[in-house]
Amino acid sequence: MRPLIVANWKMNPLTLAEAKKLFNSVKKEIKNVKNMEVVICPPFSYISNLNPSTGGQTPNLKLGAQNAFWDPSDNGPPTGQGAYTGEISPTMLKNLGVDYVIIGHSERRRYLKETNEMISKKIKTALKAKLKPILCLGETEKEMKRGKTKEVLENQLKEILSPIPNSKLLISNLILAYEPVWAIGTGNFCRSENTKKVLLFLRKFFKKTPILYGGSVNSQNAVSYIREAGFSGLLLGGVSLDIQEFFKIIKNLNRV
Ligand code: PGA
Repeated sequence: MRPLIVANWKMNPLTLAEAKKLFNSVKKEIKNVKNMEVVICPPFSYISNLNPSTGGQTPNLKLGAQNAFWDPSDNGPPTGQGAYTGEISPTMLKNLGVDYVIIGHSERRRYLKETNEMISKKIKTALKAKLKPILCLGETEKEMKRGKTKEVLENQLKEILSPIPNSKLLISNLILAYEPVWAIGTGNFCRSENTKKVLLFLRKFFKKTPILYGGSVNSQNAVSYIREAGFSGLLLGGVSLDIQEFFKIIKNLNRV
């Protein structure tokens, strides 16, 4: 499988002009890259203005969202559905050309109090809307220091996935992202030999599911997660906004 590189722009950049510039640079760069799929996850407000296919086809460039709500609200009023102020449904995203959605990012768990139960419902609705959910899993620093990583991941997986029927839809679309909470946005990445142990543990339950690594990936360490640890791809935060560093990662991976 070719590596899946997911760029999580988080709440950046501040203007649509900057978002378009960044997106168009990526599009240009990706044209020469064949052996990976790149997913850009911009803030909701920019999605409808960023089109991977204008100005020539770039089949390996896709759009993703950073979140989606758990109610599809396909029926519209007056059923009472759609009464969720400020939320965006997966179907709305699909209708804008989005293919992927990040669900359960640790920043949402932390600042917005997203629970495993909420995340589970979001995964279920995203699958129904034909989106590929990227489910984020990971332990905190305290949990890691206490040697609880595997236990935490197992519990997250159990609580999130057990309410979802083990359908073909789930098996062929779910993507996992191992993102140690302590590694996100800190520069304190998890060494590839340690992530490999976690990956092998996850592989006991998920033989074929793509599993990504995320957390302070940079142009120096990126290749090691794919080549040495064996991950299916990367979830990039900060570095995806630094276009030169981001391109370095793409170039290095293109040589793998
Ligand atoms: P980071 O973020 O690469 O800035 O650590 C990763 C993420 O939030 O998914």
